Amino acid sequence: MSNRIALVTGAARGLGAVLARRFHEAGYKVALADIAIEPAQALAHELSGDGSSACAIHLDVTRKADFEAARDALLERWGTVDALVNNAGASKVVPVMDITAEQFDQVVNVNLRSVLFGSQVFGGHFAQRGTGRIVNIASLAGQNGGSATGAHYAAAKGGVLALTKVFARDLAASGVTVNAISPGPLDLPIVHESVRADELAKVIETIPVGKLGAASYVADVAVVLASGDAYFANGACWDVNGGLYMR
Ligand SMILES: NC(=O)c1ccc[n+]([C@@H]2O[C@H](COP(=O)([O-])OP(=O)(O)OC[C@H]3O[C@@H](n4cnc5c(N)ncnc54)[C@H](O)[C@@H]3O)[C@@H](O)[C@H]2O)c1
Repeated sequence: MSNRIALVTGAARGLGAVLARRFHEAGYKVALADIAIEPAQALAHELSGDGSSACAIHLDVTRKADFEAARDALLERWGTVDALVNNAGASKVVPVMDITAEQFDQVVNVNLRSVLFGSQVFGGHFAQRGTGRIVNIASLAGQNGGSATGAHYAAAKGGVLALTKVFARDLAASGVTVNAISPGPLDLPIVHESVRADELAKVIETIPVGKLGAASYVADVAVVLASGDAYFANGACWDVNGGLYMR
């Protein structure tokens, strides 16, 4: 066990669950934070029956107070935190001309406000300690405007890339690095739930490597960026999109 500690938001399912498993395999103690507390608890229990190396935390990423409470609970439980993975996200596909103020705010809050508050609260803790890692899960949509994901989602994810740079710049001198990963479409439940099979086949035809991405690889990248050795990667965005967007 490495004795390092990570908090992953949106860890109840999808990429967050894969991230939590991967960090745990890598020897981390893992806090699985989500508004869906029951599946988060079930996965935490599967990873660590006695709760010694995994726990679930109810955390709504749109609320700064929830991040503060999670930080305090983890300091109480395990004494410190080494890495934050801002993974929680959500989107509803709405044509750009039809997006309402409520829909825009909701999607921006979950995808972007989350990164602001998570990085303020845990970045502050890391800066005090003189070391820490923040990994933000952005999206290809934030780089190319997206296709089937919604303009509010694409705009929020573009904002995640900007906040990654701002926090990376401001926290670097305190030993804290902040990086992003921008996945293209991944082979995850949400993709199969929200895109019809025939439409998905057409999407896959447009991907140069000819298949959806593996969440496990995105999780491997997150573990690499969270390691102590990763101190020279800062403010970067690691593209994982099968060649859909090259720069
Ligand atoms: N699936 C993909 O192909 C893909 C591609 C690029 C980027 N991403 C990004 O990866 C991340 C995870 O996506 P996913 O496919 O696993 O999505 P998902 O919808 O399957 O899972 C999202 C998780 O976040 C949680 N969540 C939602 N709102 C929350 C809130 N307010 N507070 C706390 N938790 C909340 C949900 O309960 C759920 O467990 C997101 O940031 C998404 O934008 C996904």
